[in-house]
Amino acid sequence: MIATINRRGYFNAAHRLYNKNWSENKNNIIFGKCANKNYHGHNYEFIIGITGKIDPETGFVISIDTLKKIISNEIEKPFDHKNLNLDIEDFNSKNPTTENIAIVIWNKIRKKISKNFIIKVSLYETNMNYAEYIG
Ligand code: NI
Repeated sequence: MIATINRRGYFNAAHRLYNKNWSENKNNIIFGKCANKNYHGHNYEFIIGITGKIDPETGFVISIDTLKKIISNEIEKPFDHKNLNLDIEDFNSKNPTTENIAIVIWNKIRKKISKNFIIKVSLYETNMNYAEYIG
């Protein structure tokens, strides 16, 4: 039997969206308030979904405790209360948009989970906006 187990996570972080090859005016037009020079914060919320075969011995796709530790060590601890542009290497040359952050999270989780599982990341920047990435 195949099933998906989901676990939620949170981090608060600052970011700024801009393209260094564009004028300040163009950045403000394209990115609006998110281009604000002095950064701004979001309370990010995400859901990691792991899809795979249920282990007949445990009844689990993956132990939620294992997943919780991976989320804490790979995402929550390194991202929480950080400036994503300045503190997280992945965003030194890539805009920390909802889409790009979801992909970075997916890549970090992928390294820690068996290839037998499908990983889905849903990342909420606000209640209204979220991105999904499944690899
Ligand atoms: Ni923003």
